[in-house]
Amino acid sequence: MENRLSKILKGKKTDSPALWMMRQAGRYLPEYRQVREQAGSFWTLCFTPHLAAEVTLQPIRRFDYDAAIIFSDILVIPKALGQTVEFAPNHGPLLEPLDWQTITQFSKWTQFEQILAPVYDAISQTRESLAPAKDLIGFAGSPWTIATYMMDGGKGNEFSLSRQSLKTIDNLQPLLEILTYSISLHLINQVQAGANVLQIFDSWASLVPVDLREDILFKPLNQIITTVRQRVGDIPIIYFGRGISESYTMLAQKKLNIAVGIDQHANLMELARLLPAEIPLQGNLDPEILVEGGEKLKTAIAQILEVAKNRSFVFNLGHGILPHTPISHVETVCELVRQGR
Ligand code: CP3
Repeated sequence: MENRLSKILKGKKTDSPALWMMRQAGRYLPEYRQVREQAGSFWTLCFTPHLAAEVTLQPIRRFDYDAAIIFSDILVIPKALGQTVEFAPNHGPLLEPLDWQTITQFSKWTQFEQILAPVYDAISQTRESLAPAKDLIGFAGSPWTIATYMMDGGKGNEFSLSRQSLKTIDNLQPLLEILTYSISLHLINQVQAGANVLQIFDSWASLVPVDLREDILFKPLNQIITTVRQRVGDIPIIYFGRGISESYTMLAQKKLNIAVGIDQHANLMELARLLPAEIPLQGNLDPEILVEGGEKLKTAIAQILEVAKNRSFVFNLGHGILPHTPISHVETVCELVRQGR
């Protein structure tokens, strides 16, 4: 299959950038809210394959994005490792206190894969209904980002235990190791179920000081990429390190053959100058500007498209779409990004 997104991620030329949006299935869509209500809980929606497949397909039907991203969550990993994860209404995730001993000695891999089996079923079902011309993105959180939720329980934005863990890295390493293995397994299974592009979300990468990013972020990332590609071949991978694009030149030196996602606070034009041309870029429309709309939105889109002209580029947001985003503004993005097609 040579679809637009996978083609661009392999460094090939297309008439216009690929287009999808982080969190493209979600509360800004009335049809999502309806299925979400029918499911009752967020976890039921994630773990009921035909419902997860349905909400994965909704944004493709409405906006004809170039890729579907499987409806799931990065927190399925701690759940499958045995840590209780709940989503309280209007609160976000809540995790029970981490039992370091049990988690770092985890070995029930059959059980782990059984818990995650509905995600793989949802991927197979989505692939069957999705037009062959569309790519299907599988994903996982990075070891560090998942670890922050596991250590701090998802509460608040201070991440005090996660920050503290960086001071005694030897204690943190076994947790990152078990996560590196879990994530690799989960990504391999998603590819075997039908995903043909992968994205790794490192939403809390910026909590890690610059001098520790190699050890805490990039070494585990390299391990995951190597393990996954050894098993499934040369699959396109996007790494989204939120808030750390200034470290992307360092990451580029590792020559991992990946695309990088860029958040809305980064200077896209400068990054496009600094990063080697063979690295595809993804980003970076500000989700708040998408909510605002109007001339400001049109200008922001035009600026990104200017950068996209000169290299392999995936048009996306700088972070997930916000629940109160007007649908007509999303339509404006689709129209302007596809003008060259
Ligand atoms: O992108 C997609 O459309 C696929 C689905 C997807 C979800 N979460 C669904 C979801 C993806 C790719 C994610 C990734 C995810 N989950 C991240 C990384 C991206 C980012 O935003 O930084 C993180 C940090 C999480 C953890 C998580 N899940 C949080 C913090 C929350 C609560 C915040 C919120 O938006 O409500 C969730 C819940 C969640 N995951 C929802 C959705 C659609 C909302 C729950 C609902 O609909 O009731």
